[in-house]
Amino acid sequence: MQKQISGFSKLTKEEKIEWLTNPFTNKKEGVKTLKKYWNTNKKLQELHDGFIENTISNFYFPYAIAPNFFINGKNYTIPMVIEESSVVAAASLVAKFWSTRGGFKTTVIGTTKIGQVHFMFAGSFSDLKNYFNAIKFELFIVTESITKNMRKRGGGILDIKLRNKTIDLKNYYQLHVTFETKDSMGANFINSCLEAIANKFKKEDINIIMSILSNYVPDCLVRAEVSCKVEDLYKENAKHYAQNFVNALNIANAEPHRAVTHNKGIMNGIDSVVIATGNDFRAVEAGVHAYASRTGKYKSLSNAKIKDGVFSFWLEIPLALGTVGGLTKLHPLAKLSLEILDHPTAKELMQIVVCVGLAQNFAALRALTTTGIQEGHMKMHLSNIIKQLDVNKKEAQHLLNFFKNKTVSYSEVITEFERNR
Ligand code: MEV
Repeated sequence: MQKQISGFSKLTKEEKIEWLTNPFTNKKEGVKTLKKYWNTNKKLQELHDGFIENTISNFYFPYAIAPNFFINGKNYTIPMVIEESSVVAAASLVAKFWSTRGGFKTTVIGTTKIGQVHFMFAGSFSDLKNYFNAIKFELFIVTESITKNMRKRGGGILDIKLRNKTIDLKNYYQLHVTFETKDSMGANFINSCLEAIANKFKKEDINIIMSILSNYVPDCLVRAEVSCKVEDLYKENAKHYAQNFVNALNIANAEPHRAVTHNKGIMNGIDSVVIATGNDFRAVEAGVHAYASRTGKYKSLSNAKIKDGVFSFWLEIPLALGTVGGLTKLHPLAKLSLEILDHPTAKELMQIVVCVGLAQNFAALRALTTTGIQEGHMKMHLSNIIKQLDVNKKEAQHLLNFFKNKTVSYSEVITEFERNR
């Protein structure tokens, strides 16, 4: 166990590793593993070291691409960062499938974001309202230097509202501010504006508690849809399987336990592109799940229907993304991802990301309601186990053949590997 330490951040990287690995039973091995992942390009390593404090190594995730996404009549190859086997394979397979059925159609429903100044006030609401109305114009004025560039790009502060929240909490009010941040995610911009607003708004009887953007962005909303004739959906028994696909959606809408897993599958696709493009996946996750609960019950983010022999499947999610600023500029691979996507605007990126979520959900539901999910998963699982073993090509092929129609488990693979040696 490590001891408590002061001034840790001031130590050099080597000193930090020394301190960390001292109590290890195999210190040499620990140091070796950490250093193995250092980038030999010193400048690049320094760039990554600078993203966060106390960096001692890098943690690699695979960076993959899923081709053949046909979105609004344009082809995209999509960069994805994810560790879960089968996610990229599923996305690629589904992208190809829908590319021959009209592709994905998307709509951006809204792009506005929210920030709030939370404060306590014990006086009368009508006095507060009068004060707010009198000072409202000045609240815009104090942010002018911050919003200047954003206004040039067509964004800025759209509105500031006083909200009475005393029903939820005694003496609690807020300034509810609506923003348009164009191609930037806008977190820093929003927070700077809010702090300037709060500073102007505060007075003796107004106790400012905090000023912060909200990651709940139900008006920064995007929708993707695919549709085709039911008979084009499956090779056999199309009517039956299409109906079961819709039934699976209905179950996710009726049952939160299932909805969470259903939506997790959607997020497999969403997060992987959000990460690859240097966006904040925690913000997206928080906002998306809040949106899934907007009716008071946690439900599916996607929906499906069959009408007049046509199957439609769609997904609507809030997505606050940026294609300028933040990590998108700093991380060379995030920059490259945006190049792979043909330099999208934030609005275009929203449309791309939602399609990958829909594709992932389609892959999961199609597998779950037909062959089951394990068939595909197990193939990847088997190849991962094989990679961990010290096998030659012939032995690997034997294992692949042996487990073709059998359930894969780590111990079964080891047993067969040793039996066949
Ligand atoms: C696994 O990462 C995702 C799934 O569980 C999604 C789902 O059940 O819909 C397969």
